[in-house]
Amino acid sequence: MRILILGGDGFCGWPTALYLSQQGHEVAILDNLSRRAWDDELGISSLTPIATLEQRVAAWQHVSEKRIALFIGDLTDFEIVRAAFEQFAPDAIVHFGEQRSAPYSMIDRQHAVFTQVNNVVGTLNVLYAMRDHAPQAHLIKLGTMGEYGTPNIAIEEGYITIEHEGRSDTLPFPKQPGSIYHLSKVHDSHNIFFACRIWGLRATDLNQGVVYNIGVEQTERDPALVNRFDYDEVFGTALNRFCAEAAAGHALTVYGAGGQTRGFIDIRDTVRCIELAALRPAEPGEMRVLNQFTEQFSVLDLAERVQSAARKLGLETTIAHLENPRVEQERHFYEAKHTKLLDLGLQPHLLNEATITGLLELAVRYRERIDLTRILPTVTWK
Ligand SMILES: NC(=O)c1ccc[n+]([C@@H]2O[C@H](COP(=O)([O-])OP(=O)(O)OC[C@H]3O[C@@H](n4cnc5c(N)ncnc54)[C@H](O)[C@@H]3O)[C@@H](O)[C@H]2O)c1
Repeated sequence: MRILILGGDGFCGWPTALYLSQQGHEVAILDNLSRRAWDDELGISSLTPIATLEQRVAAWQHVSEKRIALFIGDLTDFEIVRAAFEQFAPDAIVHFGEQRSAPYSMIDRQHAVFTQVNNVVGTLNVLYAMRDHAPQAHLIKLGTMGEYGTPNIAIEEGYITIEHEGRSDTLPFPKQPGSIYHLSKVHDSHNIFFACRIWGLRATDLNQGVVYNIGVEQTERDPALVNRFDYDEVFGTALNRFCAEAAAGHALTVYGAGGQTRGFIDIRDTVRCIELAALRPAEPGEMRVLNQFTEQFSVLDLAERVQSAARKLGLETTIAHLENPRVEQERHFYEAKHTKLLDLGLQPHLLNEATITGLLELAVRYRERIDLTRILPTVTWK
């Protein structure tokens, strides 16, 4: 297949590009390198030193003899999107190319507006490019489990059948996102649903859980292929952040009680889920929704697991319950369905001590790159 990866320079996009290239697909990346610019804006950087995108692609060609085409440009510029679609003629589009940090979107009005424009306009441009230049192609769009929020009923995979006043219908599951970023993904989902219903496009909306771990076998084949690893308060996701904190001798920063429960997924399963969705596309007119996570944990569960694995490596850490900068329930019911990707053939990598130990060892190796001043939360929701 010809697979266009939007946001292919990012944490999920880069390993996905390499993995799909390795499987024999023709892969192109479109990215405007904005993630690297946001690092510069905030004065943060990946724990792992990452090569430029051009160096990455050259290194991949060197080790694999496979070529990845590059389109450097912004999804909010329709001419860029149109040109990429015309030149590459994708069979599938994997869309990771968004501003994905909840805290970044909550910094102030400008960052909130930027996040929604970047994400919603970028996705709208992709939908119009599909309608006009690739109507048979399959959009595989990264949504997030955070779109659903934490309702007091089980979360279905995208749709719920409701009985109301003697009638019944299957409708999109209600969404109660907890940040401006998560809201942008809900807006995307509505726009994609519209494009499928009205124009007959085919799409899979992958409501992904929090991703942990560092990369896939392909990202280990050369130092220039190494994936990014974020540990700071704005872009660092829970488990990865805890591992960096433990390695640096910093307390593990649990927000509030730590009972916040979420779905999690290993990056090795992320790339496989994308492949499974691509190989079994949605039907024309269908917006298929899959909940892309493999296990659920509370934040405190994760901190305790990291603390225990760290102790075995001789790293003594404490768990600090910080005042929660977010507005969210800290103890709540959480049960989210996630069987459809298993039905497609996913064999999950479940979180075990070996994975956490590997991440701790990685963080120890790059310990001198950890900036301890960028860990405590400064962005608040109110
Ligand atoms: N990382 C997670 O834990 C997680 C969890 C759930 C969902 N997701 C979703 O997966 C996707 C990828 O996440 P990630 O962690 O890889 O993020 P990331 O920030 O590492 O990568 C996103 C990439 O998109 C690019 N990009 C952003 N806006 C763009 C634009 N307007 N034009 C072109 N390129 C643009 C960035 O430069 C970056 O390379 C996001 O949509 C995110 O919402 C991620």
